Amino acid sequence: MEKRYGRITGWGAYVPEKVLTNHDLEQLVDTSHEWIVQRTGIHQRHIAGPEETNATMSVAAARRALQKANLAATDLDLIIVATTTGDFITPAVSSQIQHMLGATNVPAFVLANGCTGFLYALTTAQQFISGGVYRNILIIGSELLSRYVDWTDRNTCVLFGDAAGAFVMQATSEPCGLFGFDMGSDGSGSQHIIAPAMGSAEPVNATTFAERRHFIRMNGREVFKFATRVLGSTSQRSLAQAGMTLDDIDCIVPHQANLRIIEAAARAMNLPIERFLVKVHKYANTSAASIPVAICDGLDSGEIRLDDRLLLVSFGSGLTWASAVLQMAPTLQKPRYSNGVAEPATAEWVTA
Ligand SMILES: CC(C)(COP(=O)(O)OP(=O)(O)OC[C@H]1O[C@@H](n2cnc3c(N)ncnc32)[C@H](O)[C@@H]1OP(=O)(O)O)[C@@H](O)C(=O)NCCC(=O)NCCS
Repeated sequence: MEKRYGRITGWGAYVPEKVLTNHDLEQLVDTSHEWIVQRTGIHQRHIAGPEETNATMSVAAARRALQKANLAATDLDLIIVATTTGDFITPAVSSQIQHMLGATNVPAFVLANGCTGFLYALTTAQQFISGGVYRNILIIGSELLSRYVDWTDRNTCVLFGDAAGAFVMQATSEPCGLFGFDMGSDGSGSQHIIAPAMGSAEPVNATTFAERRHFIRMNGREVFKFATRVLGSTSQRSLAQAGMTLDDIDCIVPHQANLRIIEAAARAMNLPIERFLVKVHKYANTSAASIPVAICDGLDSGEIRLDDRLLLVSFGSGLTWASAVLQMAPTLQKPRYSNGVAEPATAEWVTA
């Protein structure tokens, strides 16, 4: 069989209209804009309105991605939704999304892996494409974290935001897509990011509710140490699998959790911070949505191009890590840069 690559032909993001600034948070908990910016780099986050759900945000992002790919929802062979904040514990939000998109009878499933979920989903989609099973796959990363954070806990509520991002991956014989990946898990650190009473281990009751154990709790220092430990090593493994080095990479797209973590990763890789796509100041940590939303923003702003070689790298609850070398579209014939400035993405590139 001819080798099949997974080209990203469509991409789309959705962020809710409502913006919550650090100054707004000063009214809710004992914090300050200066503290949040200095410790995290976050200036604001988007928060879903009362009518919005994980499914509606996902569908908005997915419609944009399908439109870019010039694909109807009925053309899809598979929908994978990376999220841990679906509308219900059951049914899986992927089926609601499939129905709302009009993707009649298309298989759909949720991949629940916190902040690494989108990279796990991307890698999973690639396997279906390269195995020749499916041709058109919709991959969504979506989180409605504002309904899972404790708005009285300053340790967590300042960190997160709501958003959805979507990619359409299509089979092609032209070299592009995922050139290498790495995934890993260390459940010995599972207690460091946990919503203790949101599952079957500790069903919600009056006591767990009063103790607010249904909200996300986090040991920030441990997560910070873990993140700075794994980001460099997982990146090296993805690069090795791709047969590349950091010199071959145009831009690093890290999970957007904390600017200080990204800066630590830059130091560990011996790279200037300018080589990293940074969007955490605008959206805060949107977990599984953070990487696709950052990529959509970077394409819109011209900071990255469709034929750039991207190193995507993430860490999160589990604890888990993941990375991937991704080139969304085949290499273009025209020069990558003109006068040292990256050219912005244009529609013509999609079909180039
Ligand atoms: C959460 C995080 C920003 C805290 O920064 P830090 O420098 O580690 O801060 P510390 O935990 O040392 O806390 C320092 C003090 O600030 C306080 N503090 C915590 N949140 C605060 C806030 N929003 N405003 C003001 N003070 C705050 C703490 O209570 C602590 O006070 P104490 O010393 O009196 O107990 C940081 O640990 C972090 O980003 N960790 C990774 C989290 C993450 O990325 N999670 C998502 C993973 S996908």
